Amino acid sequence: MAQEDVFKKLVAHCKEYGYVFPSSEIYDGLSAVYDYGQYGVELKNNIKKYWWDSMVLLNENIVGIDSAIFMHPTIWKASGHVDAFNDPLIDNKDSKKRYRADVLIEEHIAKFEDKISKEVEKARERFGDAFDENKFRATNQRVLANQQKIDEINARYSKAMNATDLNELRQIILDNEIVCPISGTRNWTEVRQFNLMFATEMGSTSEGASKVYLRPETAQGIFVNFLNVQKTGRMKIPFGIAQIGKAFRNEIVARQFIFRMREFEQMEMQFFVQPGTELDWFRHWKGVRMRWHTALGYGDDNYRFHDHTKLAHYANAATDIEFRFPFGFKEVEGIHSRTDFDLKQHQNYSGKKMQYFDPEKGESYIPYVIETSIGVDRMFLHIVSAALREEELKKEDGTSDTRTVMRLPSFLAPVKLAVMPLIKKDGLPEIAEKIVHDLRFDFNCQYDDKDSIGRRYRRQDAIGTPYCITIDHQTLDDSSVTIRYRDSMEQERVKISQLKDIIAEKVSIASLLKKL
Ligand code: GAP
Repeated sequence: MAQEDVFKKLVAHCKEYGYVFPSSEIYDGLSAVYDYGQYGVELKNNIKKYWWDSMVLLNENIVGIDSAIFMHPTIWKASGHVDAFNDPLIDNKDSKKRYRADVLIEEHIAKFEDKISKEVEKARERFGDAFDENKFRATNQRVLANQQKIDEINARYSKAMNATDLNELRQIILDNEIVCPISGTRNWTEVRQFNLMFATEMGSTSEGASKVYLRPETAQGIFVNFLNVQKTGRMKIPFGIAQIGKAFRNEIVARQFIFRMREFEQMEMQFFVQPGTELDWFRHWKGVRMRWHTALGYGDDNYRFHDHTKLAHYANAATDIEFRFPFGFKEVEGIHSRTDFDLKQHQNYSGKKMQYFDPEKGESYIPYVIETSIGVDRMFLHIVSAALREEELKKEDGTSDTRTVMRLPSFLAPVKLAVMPLIKKDGLPEIAEKIVHDLRFDFNCQYDDKDSIGRRYRRQDAIGTPYCITIDHQTLDDSSVTIRYRDSMEQERVKISQLKDIIAEKVSIASLLKKL
């Protein structure tokens, strides 16, 4: 199946099975804003717990906070967001559609990359095992011509972005004859900067309302509370502060479902260290965070680091952890060595000292910071895209069938077990209800007696329920039930009295955390 179709199926599945709905759908939706349904919210909460416990539970020197979304507007001046949190925008005068100039150029470059990939694939088919991809790329004339084009555009593009040269960005679009995908014309406006922060007013106009922003990242709430936490928690450097919360960005190119949203959630941790030790800690957190991802079991090959060569002015090292989404490798998490930039800025703008007194060194300094920053929604998309499979099943009579299954790690699954009476009589439903009643204090359980048992299994597979318990007539004789495993589809006969222990062991977060 083409990757585009895989992605469309995923979006449809998320809606059909109560994971993610478009926001305000009965009013035709609100662009790049989504609601999480009955299963989506459970998965989201489990992702957050996995992250929170891996930070706060497993590390004695990391504590959590929950800072407000509204903050003093000067914070965003100090952080650089008021002046520099911008996207370069351009409008097409015919379609009246607005685009990010940088995205238009990057998509144009991607077309040449696509052409090269197609040439390579064609040649691979033609030459079979004898194919030498490196040699082909270095010698094929069409590949070389396309690569030269990419290099030329990239050189101009990087220079223009580094210098924030908006005229040059427009000129690149014109010189490369990039057209609007809607109108097909090259009738472009000038390029101008657009700030991504949402602003609103606090207080009534009569008393002099002030402009406040919806935070575009949670990190600043940590920076401004750095000394509050350090002093009240008597924290010694190195230590970290973790936070999960909503962030808002007025993204212009908002697409790919919940990959890029206007309202989203972040899980951020700022780790405060002694100046000079930051690059060791940066390497440490790269390793820790990669293990957090790979422990989920979706294959180490599906992750990679993308180390930044062009660094923001405040960073002395940065990397992204990328996951192989259906639309290619893309960032899920950023790890940044942010130096003392943020604390220093807040010290300058607030006039309050942001220094730490180091009892071992007997001196005060502004700590350096390593940040790990991951989007909950993007992690959610990563998990569902890795988990959702269309599987072909061979039947005993030689024919085949398909099933749609969400192979979620048991701890993350919204429903842990479904309890099903084989038929709706002979006292079987009552036993099933009692099991649900007894186990609901420990696990998210679902009672299901509609349709054939096969259809019920399929329904639970599609939701991602790892265990199905079936009550049949043998249960009446010996209090045993079958437990059916989602991934292997194998069934095992166990006593009702054993169920709690069996399931508890399998769905516990501890087994996941112990892999870290
Ligand atoms: N404090 C650093 C910071 O915010 P970022 O790279 O802008 O860094 C960190 O964002 C993470 O937040 C990203 O790796 C991504 O997972 C998530 N994220 C950022 N913008 C997003 C958006 N518009 N929609 C969904 N997730 C987003």
